Amino acid sequence: MNKSDFKILKVFASSLKNRQFLNLPTLSQYSNLSQSLIEHHLKRLVKFGLISKSNIGYTLLVTGLDIYVLKILSNKNIITAIGPQIGIGKEAEVYLAHDSLQQDKILKMFRLGRSSFKQIKRKRDVNAGTNSWLLLNIETAKKEYDILTYLKDSSASFPSPLYRSFHCIVMEPIYGSRLSDIENLDYPELVLEKIISNMTIAYRKGYINGDLNEYNILVNDDNIFILDWPQAVRVDSTNADVVLTRDVNNIIKFFSRKFEIEREIYNIINIIKGK
Ligand SMILES: Nc1ncnc2c1ncn2[C@@H]1O[C@H](COP(=O)(O)OP(=O)(O)OP(=O)(O)O)[C@@H](O)[C@H]1O
Ligand SMILES: [Mg+2]
Repeated sequence: MNKSDFKILKVFASSLKNRQFLNLPTLSQYSNLSQSLIEHHLKRLVKFGLISKSNIGYTLLVTGLDIYVLKILSNKNIITAIGPQIGIGKEAEVYLAHDSLQQDKILKMFRLGRSSFKQIKRKRDVNAGTNSWLLLNIETAKKEYDILTYLKDSSASFPSPLYRSFHCIVMEPIYGSRLSDIENLDYPELVLEKIISNMTIAYRKGYINGDLNEYNILVNDDNIFILDWPQAVRVDSTNADVVLTRDVNNIIKFFSRKFEIEREIYNIINIIKGK
């Protein structure tokens, strides 16, 4: 990949909101490269699976946006190396990465709606909807980044966000194990109290996580960290009570099942709401 490849990817990335397909004249106009040079680069980009060609023009693929974002992050020395994948879920791929000072960072690349997108692709065999799919992932990354930034100054334990580019977030790492993977806790009551206290802090600041369960909590000694905020809802939204009840229910069921701690759901909801 060279400078001109990235210039062309940049035109695609910058036009995501407005156009699904780009043609040679448009690409030439925005990149200041000749049409013949662009044609040469487009061939490479298609071959690498970064963009695709159809009879109505060229369109950016997920891998193309991934590569473009990684280039931005490395130019800014935010991420200069990527290590093992530490999480893969319905919504994102999470990697351990390094910055230019060899410090650990976390890179979360959103992949929301991956399976439904694959179905669309399979059915129509074109890249229908790639842009709207990418835009959905960009919006979701933005939402999580904004919420984490907003929650950052609270005394609670949520991941510290560092940077967002398109559909990717860079965060500080949290060293710990998923609550779901832990067999024994010395003081499970204390861990439960800390979860409730962090939920209370988020609630006071206006948010309910909305996907709280043992997979989205990391535990390090007796400290807990609540991850995964893109689906958070505001406490004043119409479904806030339903979402809060579900979150609390997930947690008390887990502690009952695994540590035989029984807590009353409405008692915890009242604590979180400060009643
Ligand atoms: N800041 C972080 N520090 C350390 N590990 C992290 C961090 N953020 C995410 N992870 C790891 O990556 C996993 C997935 O992250 P997250 O829950 O944010 O994404 P997700 O798309 O919801 O994944 P899933 O659908 O599996 O829940 C986490 O369970 C955790 O193991
Ligand atoms: Mg998760």
